[in-house]
Amino acid sequence: MISIIGSGRVGSSIAFLCAASGLDDILLVNRTKDKAIGEALDISNAIPKNSRISVHGTDDYSKMTDSKIIVITASTSIYLKSRTEMIGAQTQMIKKIASYVKHYCHDTIVLMVSNPLDVLTYFFQKETGFPKTKVMGIASSLDSSRFRYLLSEKLGITQSEISDAIVLGEHGDSMVPIFSHTRIHRKKALELLNYNQQKSISIGVRDYWKSLRNFKSRSQFGIAKNTFDVINAILQNNELQIPASVLLEGEYGEYDVCMGVPVIIDKHGVSKIQEIELNEYENKSLKISADIIRNYINSV
Ligand SMILES: NC(=O)c1ccc[n+]([C@@H]2O[C@H](COP(=O)([O-])OP(=O)(O)OC[C@H]3O[C@@H](n4cnc5c(N)ncnc54)[C@H](OP(=O)(O)O)[C@@H]3O)[C@@H](O)[C@H]2O)c1
Repeated sequence: MISIIGSGRVGSSIAFLCAASGLDDILLVNRTKDKAIGEALDISNAIPKNSRISVHGTDDYSKMTDSKIIVITASTSIYLKSRTEMIGAQTQMIKKIASYVKHYCHDTIVLMVSNPLDVLTYFFQKETGFPKTKVMGIASSLDSSRFRYLLSEKLGITQSEISDAIVLGEHGDSMVPIFSHTRIHRKKALELLNYNQQKSISIGVRDYWKSLRNFKSRSQFGIAKNTFDVINAILQNNELQIPASVLLEGEYGEYDVCMGVPVIIDKHGVSKIQEIELNEYENKSLKISADIIRNYINSV
């Protein structure tokens, strides 16, 4: 069973993708019970004819027992200027959710989606004491999708012509697009883009959520698909290589902080953290990003 905590835009979109693919039974857990029940009623009509899965909604955490995967998309309210502006309320909420998950679920993989992503991933892991391989924050893969999209727009090419465009570090203002690994038809992106172009793409990735807010309210489908891909990889045991936020214990020279780094995901969760070579600027930026997340953690 896949349990999704929070049945708002993001939670219901993830549930829709899982249901439409007939992946597994789905439980929607929401603060307001009726919303979870309503979303479950609607999403149930997307289950393929030949599938045996079901979708249910509740506000009762005890029903999550036996979840193979728990996805956390709960949010106390909506941030306006920065992902960290509700850090206190969100951390309190996550600690409470962590206590329920620890009580009812013993062998489960947890995908954090709620913001501030890295801080909440950290506190969830600390509160539950779950193995660090079983708790991951999903956001850097979305930032990487945005990076790839903006590169394709800038260069006038399709996204399929771009490889290894990844974003590491904080899911926030200090995120680090990794130009040194990005290839366009095997050519290095660094050879095709001048400093100003790199800078404008970096700002575009960082502020993508603000552009979204100008045209529609909040992001929904991009994060839903990126999260669905992780759920699918875990349940089907298909190795998936993406950047995700995990607790670091020496990798990239960082300790006791969660941030986006390249990982391999399979049915066990995070099976490997990959330490890729970065250039001097990227290494320095990643260090700054880790320090910023650590400061947020210490501020709570
Ligand atoms: N990782 C990423 O890249 C990424 C991308 C997009 C969004 N996000 C984050 O994802 C989160 C959800 O976004 P959204 O647009 O889906 O928000 P939303 O539409 O406001 O939905 C949030 C839902 O969480 C529920 N909730 C609040 N506290 C809860 C609790 N203690 N237990 C269970 N449910 C609870 C709310 O219930 P009610 O019905 O009672 O209000 C609401 O249905 C936000 O933190 C957002 O910043 C992350």
